[in-house]
Amino acid sequence: MPFMHLDQNHLDTIHSWLQQNHLLVPEEEILSAEKAGEGNMNYTLRINSNLRSFILKQARPYVEKYPSIAAPVERAAMEAAFFKAAAQWEGVGEMLPRLLFFAPEDHLQMIEDLGAGADFTAFYQRKEVIPQKELASLLKFLHALHQQSRENPPGHNFQNRAMRELNHFHIFDFPFQPENGLNLDGIQEGLQALAQRTIFQQAKLREKTMALGLRYLADGDTLLHGDFFPGSWLRTERGVFVIDPEFCFQGDAEFDLGVCLAHLCFCGMEWSVALDILRGQYGAFDADLCQDFAAVEILRRIYGVGQLPLSMSIAEKEAVTLIAIEQLLT
Ligand SMILES: Nc1ncnc2c1ncn2[C@@H]1O[C@H](COP(=O)(O)OP(=O)(O)OP(=O)(O)O)[C@@H](O)[C@H]1O
Ligand SMILES: [Mg+2]
Repeated sequence: MPFMHLDQNHLDTIHSWLQQNHLLVPEEEILSAEKAGEGNMNYTLRINSNLRSFILKQARPYVEKYPSIAAPVERAAMEAAFFKAAAQWEGVGEMLPRLLFFAPEDHLQMIEDLGAGADFTAFYQRKEVIPQKELASLLKFLHALHQQSRENPPGHNFQNRAMRELNHFHIFDFPFQPENGLNLDGIQEGLQALAQRTIFQQAKLREKTMALGLRYLADGDTLLHGDFFPGSWLRTERGVFVIDPEFCFQGDAEFDLGVCLAHLCFCGMEWSVALDILRGQYGAFDADLCQDFAAVEILRRIYGVGQLPLSMSIAEKEAVTLIAIEQLLT
């Protein structure tokens, strides 16, 4: 079968691909295809048939939004393997969409449609706080995922090396290189000067982020989601769901927790309050390692390529930058 290039304007191609893979029921007709939601990495469609809707998500050898940036296609197989392994785990599978089919040669997943709900990125506006119940359910999910993966080691290799190396570069390395060429003032006037007087002049900070980066690259025995932030959390009629585990790997649980902590702070929560909520809802973990990962995540989101829809003044960014640096250097 030739490689299938998913395209919302070619319903006939989508139809025959589904048919060839025996994914359509007898009376089923494809009526329309639309963008499933906001996303950068992959090509993700919601397909509407006369009987149901479902998601088709294709990984291409580049970042969908920036085709000049290469990206490893193995991410589709990693995500599919994650969905498969985690579907059976209690407290985990119930909060994940079902994987309906995976075509390895096309790097294409067919996934249960959770409906056109919103993700949690609106909370970056800090107009309201993330409801406690939803946050509790996300942290219980995370704990169950980590624990179940240790108790029932999946028979799959979740090294996800290429994706991890890509992420490693953008989290632990690039943002801290003074000559990286990123136009920070193009993101926000005054950001370049702020970087100069905070993160760019500190050899010790660079040493620390490099050491943490090695920790991120090391293999562990806990399966992580790998990108546990508001863009991966979906609000649906059936409650909160977790999507997009393409950065999953087996490592330190504290990486997922640290990323989560950083984003709770971006959503307006005090650092210590957020940490207490993690402790209360998730349970025990290495708080220092978690906070180190959180601090790096904060800095890379402010000074790196993976920008968020934040509405923070330079003064506010300076305040969180100083908190993050203090965490990393003491
Ligand atoms: N199973 C699903 N049910 C409903 N909507 C979904 C589902 N999967 C994805 N979506 C929608 O499509 C959007 C993009 O999906 P996803 O985050 O998986 O893609 P991505 O390209 O990896 O995104 P990113 O660049 O943020 O990593 C989601 O934000 C969500 O709105
Ligand atoms: Mg993604």
